[in-house]
Amino acid sequence: MEKIILDVDPGHDDAIAILLAAKNPNIELVAITVVSGNQTLEKTTKNALDICSAVGINNVPVAAGMSVPMIRKKQVVANNIHGESGLDGPHFGKQTVKLDSRHAVDLIIEILLNSNNDITLVPTGPLSNIAMAMKKEPLIVPKIKQIVLMGGSYQLGNVTPSAEFNIHSDAEAAQVVFSCGRPIVMMGLDLTRQALATIEVVNRIKTLNNTASNLFVDLMEYFRMTQKKVFGFDSPPVHDPTTVAYLIDPTIIQTKPMNVEIETSSELTYGKTVCDYYGNTGKEPNALVATKLDFDKFWNLVYDTLKLY
Ligand code: RIB
Ligand code: CA
Repeated sequence: MEKIILDVDPGHDDAIAILLAAKNPNIELVAITVVSGNQTLEKTTKNALDICSAVGINNVPVAAGMSVPMIRKKQVVANNIHGESGLDGPHFGKQTVKLDSRHAVDLIIEILLNSNNDITLVPTGPLSNIAMAMKKEPLIVPKIKQIVLMGGSYQLGNVTPSAEFNIHSDAEAAQVVFSCGRPIVMMGLDLTRQALATIEVVNRIKTLNNTASNLFVDLMEYFRMTQKKVFGFDSPPVHDPTTVAYLIDPTIIQTKPMNVEIETSSELTYGKTVCDYYGNTGKEPNALVATKLDFDKFWNLVYDTLKLY
């Protein structure tokens, strides 16, 4: 059983990560912490509470965190992908899950300091909460079992030609996390763009006809439209749940040790994860970078977990 803190910026694909983490028997979801990213913190927090309320995730603390990046002035949101609300498409009923009063950074610190070094951090948004927790209380760093994050890429970017959205949104925070010395598994776009919610996948999950599967279908209907419009993809890549899926069954994803450093000073390539794929810098690898997804095993895992709702 993997004990995790899921740090999210819902976000259509963050929502799927939440559904997986809350119900799969191999995961103990200790807390959900929210960060600004796909939308403002106010909207990503509302979205996290709506998702939990919709499918009955009532026993996990949900705490709001950083509303702005650590250093950079400009906050980037992704209206073009996730819509004005950050979770356009589904209609949510009454919000029954209440926000925890603690700040997400303080909750991360509290959980880690009281842990037995058995907590995995799973960030699927900008790394502002994680980095701020490390800066505010450095004693938490050796207590982190590992960090399995969605972000970066060793090839193409998305928000810019060279940078991926989560890293680009707060590259200084990413620099803190990637240099913290704890084991990191990076699910970059190279991997997550293999996790495509094809029509066949969506139609199979639709047959489950429960609250979680119906939410999945509604989310994918909107996400398909924006991913087609912006990137020309016929099927939307569900980036974030690949992190949780890896913790459920590490055999579904192949990884390669690489040295990964973050560009923070170049205007042109700010937020680029500079991944030493061939090892020619001679620098020590600081991350396992995901390269290949077992598509069928991944979607079977998602289907089997959503079936439990
Ligand atoms: O680049 C994709 C990532 O940015 C995903 O986590 C998506 O939800 C957004 O946060
Ligand atoms: Ca996200």
